[in-house]
Amino acid sequence: MHFFLDSADIEEIRKAVRWGVIDGVTTNPSLVAKSGGRDFHGLVREIAALVNGPVSAEVTSLDPEGMVAQGRELSAIAPNVAVKVPMGRDGMTACSRLAREGVKVNVTLVFTPQQALLAAAAGASFVSPFVGRLDDIGEDGIGLVGDIADAFAMGDITTRIIAASIRHPRHVIEAAMAGADIATVPLAVLEKCFDHPLTASGIKRFLADWEEYGKENGR
Ligand code: E4P
Repeated sequence: MHFFLDSADIEEIRKAVRWGVIDGVTTNPSLVAKSGGRDFHGLVREIAALVNGPVSAEVTSLDPEGMVAQGRELSAIAPNVAVKVPMGRDGMTACSRLAREGVKVNVTLVFTPQQALLAAAAGASFVSPFVGRLDDIGEDGIGLVGDIADAFAMGDITTRIIAASIRHPRHVIEAAMAGADIATVPLAVLEKCFDHPLTASGIKRFLADWEEYGKENGR
């Protein structure tokens, strides 16, 4: 499973890129709004230059024509921009039109396997089931990822599954085991995935032993 960073914060993205573990970035209007009032297209351009893989940028129009127009503009910013459209009739109308034009589309706000199948049918390159938001209302977010993965495997569907709305490291491993192709994670969750007390104490111990060895051998 690949990691994407779920962020529109340039400093966060730089930090994660430096670690060499992320293959893409997802943004949404809420994340962009938090990122400091920058020009949206300029922000997308800067993010797309920082990462090699797909950078999802979301449309905000509610009608298909508006979504297609915004999608064309966003995808023209850089070759690695994927256009995020919301699930729904209008979203799928826009998705199918953009996909026919060769634009990579990420269908967002997916909460059922049926919605994921419709997104695939409309030519989406990515589908984003929202794990945490389902868990928040007492439903099974990871179960949804598993159901989509099974349905896609049965139908030889190549649309890639991005496990989104990831809240903690447990979601990350569960998404991988459920068959997600990608987990898009906030920086705070990514940070937590690095750490384990035995890793920290192990490094300390190795260095102490190395120092001892140096002293004994006159180094
Ligand atoms: C995915 O692409 C969305 O940006 C994101 O994962 C939503 O997460 P949230 O439920 O924490 O807002």
